[in-house]
Amino acid sequence: MTLTKAVVTGAGQGMGRSIAMKLAKQGLSVVLIGKTSAKLEKVANEIQAAGGSAQAYHLDVTDDAGVEAFATWLGDEAVDVLVNNAGDWLVEPFETTENAQFDHIMDVNLRAPYVLSRALLQNLRKSDNASIVNIGSIVTVESHGGVTAYTAAKVGLRALGNSLAAELRPERIRVMMLSPGPANTPMRWDASPDIDPKMLVEPETIAEVLWTMVSLPHGISIRDVVVVESLYLVMDD
Ligand SMILES: NC(=O)c1ccc[n+]([C@@H]2O[C@H](COP(=O)([O-])OP(=O)(O)OC[C@H]3O[C@@H](n4cnc5c(N)ncnc54)[C@H](OP(=O)(O)O)[C@@H]3O)[C@@H](O)[C@H]2O)c1
Repeated sequence: MTLTKAVVTGAGQGMGRSIAMKLAKQGLSVVLIGKTSAKLEKVANEIQAAGGSAQAYHLDVTDDAGVEAFATWLGDEAVDVLVNNAGDWLVEPFETTENAQFDHIMDVNLRAPYVLSRALLQNLRKSDNASIVNIGSIVTVESHGGVTAYTAAKVGLRALGNSLAAELRPERIRVMMLSPGPANTPMRWDASPDIDPKMLVEPETIAEVLWTMVSLPHGISIRDVVVVESLYLVMDD
């Protein structure tokens, strides 16, 4: 079963960029979704220069009308891999987190994957070996202070994915979560500028793991993969 088409959100930089490049290298035509067109075009050009196929599609994944327009643009084409990677973070004490901040974190990290997965379900059903991969976080398996909204969103995404996996099991559409520890991306550089770089997992490593997950034989699924640099675990003990 050959995988031919992927949709990757947040593909303009960081993990989404590496995932898109890996999928394109494996021969998939990749639709790159993100907020900043220039970043998407740059990644599309990189993929095309390497002989791959990519299209940039400007979309804020929290915009329901935009998601609908995207689904219409895709039409009835089969999608083998949907990667809900776009995300945003917030480091803020519980007491001073504003409702609007909480809503934004929930919208982008939890609600958007729900809405987009539902919008593309008909495309995934046309695949012989379909996967939805939700990018989680280490906060789904260990708790830290100062990230209550982000943690609620990512743990919610994990539960949503598990319930959806159960619902789609009869159709053998995988729904999986890939949860990175601190990773070497712009998000982490902003969130933890003082972190020891040795503790970061490279986005290319995340992309390799994702490829393993989506290229399994039809009907075989992995759930809840956590990928961390081992020094991070040592220092957390
Ligand atoms: N980096 C880490 O240490 C780490 C650890 C665990 C989990 N994660 C998760 O991994 C995923 C990728 O993170 P990253 O580190 O690669 O982050 P990043 O460097 O900040 O990249 C995130 C990408 O998502 C896009 N994006 C954000 N909001 C969007 C929206 N509403 N609609 C469309 N695109 C949107 C951004 O586009 P623009 O640039 O155009 O704004 C950006 O290209 C996220 O879900 C994050 O929570 C990251």
